[in-house]
Amino acid sequence: MEIKKITVLGAGQMGNGIAHVCAQAGYEVKMRDIEQRFLDRGFETIKKNLGRAVKKGKMSQEEADTIVGRITGVLDLKDAVKDADLVIEAIPEVVKLKLDTWKEVDEAAPDHAILASNTSSISITQMAAVTKRPEQFIGMHFFNPVPVMGLVEIIKGAATADSTVDVIKTVSEKVGKKTVIVNEAPGFAVNRVLIPAINEAILAIQEGVATVEDMDLAIKLGLNWPMGPLTLADFVGLDTLLYIADYFVDEFKDSKYRAPALLRKMVRAGWLGRKTGKGFYDYSGEKPVPLRF
Ligand code: 3HC
Repeated sequence: MEIKKITVLGAGQMGNGIAHVCAQAGYEVKMRDIEQRFLDRGFETIKKNLGRAVKKGKMSQEEADTIVGRITGVLDLKDAVKDADLVIEAIPEVVKLKLDTWKEVDEAAPDHAILASNTSSISITQMAAVTKRPEQFIGMHFFNPVPVMGLVEIIKGAATADSTVDVIKTVSEKVGKKTVIVNEAPGFAVNRVLIPAINEAILAIQEGVATVEDMDLAIKLGLNWPMGPLTLADFVGLDTLLYIADYFVDEFKDSKYRAPALLRKMVRAGWLGRKTGKGFYDYSGEKPVPLRF
């Protein structure tokens, strides 16, 4: 089966990145969100990120415009999916919202369409089960920033057909990503390792083992990570990290995944990282300033 038309649900951090790489690979893309201002913001980010490549002489402005021109912004869900070959969902990580959306998508999308979720932890099998096509349902987990990161984790639910895996592998490679195939388990492969690592770094800060900037420097230089774990936490979003940690505790029934009290306190304070201007660093000035705990 050849994929030509891709619909991306959600124009946020992940959704606009996915729409960007799909359009850059030549697919005809619809990007759907629930309000025009979210679509506008998504398009702005795509243009800004393509602008980086133009500035560096890696792409002409004309090519960037052609890529943006392949993306249509849509508000109505039925309109968005009615002629899609592949629907990639990147909406908020709220189980009920995902299940309700998938029921609606399943009704409106063509029978042949493959349904893929970019969830970072929620069960693919649970989402697939609310549709009439669980064998055409799959996890397609991208990483932030999508245009830069080289991986797509492909997650097989209980009923996912091998032919669906093959199509998604081909699409992922066409958008320039390497793939790994993972059997469903909470957090798949990457977040299974990332979440405990970030939790441990936050616990160490909470215990006064090191300052925020020293912990980041230690891991950056000591382990050659591109970003320290607290910079990365702010980058991913502290609310997202807390959500995943709580989900792990529920799913694994194992307290070893529990979120540090400091993380929960910061989320309650609305310090969600870069997106709110404050997390482990304060982003209001020219340079990020680490907080003291
Ligand atoms: N969009 C597009 N391109 C971007 C970009 C963005 N948002 N941010 C950076 N870039 C490009 C730059 O233009 C540059 O391109 P070039 O190599 O062609 O010149 C390249 O990326 C490197 O950028 P910079 O030189 O500006 O900055 P860095 O070298 O510091 O790299 C980074 C920035 C790529 C974000 C790097 O710090 C990094 O890889 N950080 C770790 C990110 C990570 O771990 N992501 C995974 C998060 S977990 C996740 O997403 C899963 C979820 O389920 C929780």
